[in-house]
Amino acid sequence: MELKNKHILLGVSGGIAAYKSVELLRFLKKAGANVNVIMTASAQKFVGKTTFEVLSDNLVLSDLFFDTESSVKHIDLATRADAVIVAPATANIIAKLSHGIADDALSTTLLAVTCPVMVCPSMNTDMYQNIRVQRNLDILEKDGWHILDPDSGVLACKAVGAGRLPDPWFIFDRVLAMFTKKDLNGKKILVSAGPTVEAIDPVRFVSNHSSGKMGYAIAGAAEKRGGQVTLVSGPVSLESPVGVERIDVQTCEEMAEQMLANLDQADIIIKVAAVADYKPIDPKTSKIKKKDNNKDLFVSMTQNLDILKLIGEKKKKDQFLVGFAAETNDLEKNALLKIEKKNLDMIAANLVGSSDSGFKADTNKVKLFFKDGSFVDIPLMDKSKVADILIDHIINKIN
Ligand SMILES: Cc1cc2nc3c(=O)[nH]c(=O)nc-3n(C[C@H](O)[C@H](O)[C@H](O)COP(=O)(O)O)c2cc1C
Repeated sequence: MELKNKHILLGVSGGIAAYKSVELLRFLKKAGANVNVIMTASAQKFVGKTTFEVLSDNLVLSDLFFDTESSVKHIDLATRADAVIVAPATANIIAKLSHGIADDALSTTLLAVTCPVMVCPSMNTDMYQNIRVQRNLDILEKDGWHILDPDSGVLACKAVGAGRLPDPWFIFDRVLAMFTKKDLNGKKILVSAGPTVEAIDPVRFVSNHSSGKMGYAIAGAAEKRGGQVTLVSGPVSLESPVGVERIDVQTCEEMAEQMLANLDQADIIIKVAAVADYKPIDPKTSKIKKKDNNKDLFVSMTQNLDILKLIGEKKKKDQFLVGFAAETNDLEKNALLKIEKKNLDMIAANLVGSSDSGFKADTNKVKLFFKDGSFVDIPLMDKSKVADILIDHIINKIN
């Protein structure tokens, strides 16, 4: 529950994207936040108040003079708020907020808040690019509010361009980032994730069950904590973590090339990828045909590059190198051996084979071993939480 005990004000103004705020509200609630929704009169032409009231478990504030349980509800809400999100933010509310106008519940409450505010503009492209709207957004940004750039694409009005409200999960991700301590500020982090694939022929390959979830969770968590993250990823079906530079690769060789190309600048290297240890010696250029007289097919394999070892050899004194070990047995022995053999500072070892940890699962249970022989058990939890604890330990060791 990343937002437990946080009070969030969700301001909804009268844009076509108001329906997306319903899902944003659900993300916030699921993360444990207490959410109060404030709607403009126009917003209620798009989505009913009842929907927000039921999903937030709170009355919606929309009329300063008639709606309130307390006579100064807008001040109560403003004082209690830990963060405010205005999504969607119309050109009209942006103009009012940037000029200190207070003529409805939302604009009046926002004059009284002192916490961080994120404004998510959403409108037709010509409106968004209008010099007055841009000027108003500039004012808000200079005043210290966060402006979340709109997405580009086909808009509800059929125009193509910038102005679409980003997906609710994306806005939610940025809200989490607002609340995250920036203890990786100024640090460059290089992460590898996912499996690699090695061709047998143009349609078949050798790979493994890695889903990339653990590496992506680490990359996302490091970005939220202020790190500049490069993610070298094998083929996975995951959305890129927000704000992370992602480099897609297929084979071990391509992954090694990208990891080494980005190694020099990195302060912290976290190698989560499950690289194929072996690859076919002689991948065929045309599809291997099934032959009736030949029941068995033998594919000769040869060892791939050991990327972690290569990085360990090249690693500079001030770089921190973390490896992952997925083991089916002898977890501790294998992990400690790997630390020594590959010149690691830390290894996160997990036993694969259980449905709630390791490959594919959303949760993981790992044991962190350090160069100095110490270790820490991280019990079964969400991979996003494992990622944060792992980063806590890295920061602790670096400092
Ligand atoms: C169908 C329709 C869709 C609209 N969509 C948007 C929009 O996406 N963004 C925007 O800034 N204004 C949009 N407007 C205009 C606003 O609703 C209008 O400017 C209103 O005064 C905004 O009031 P508010 O800022 O108090 O919510 C739309 C209007 C209509 C009729």
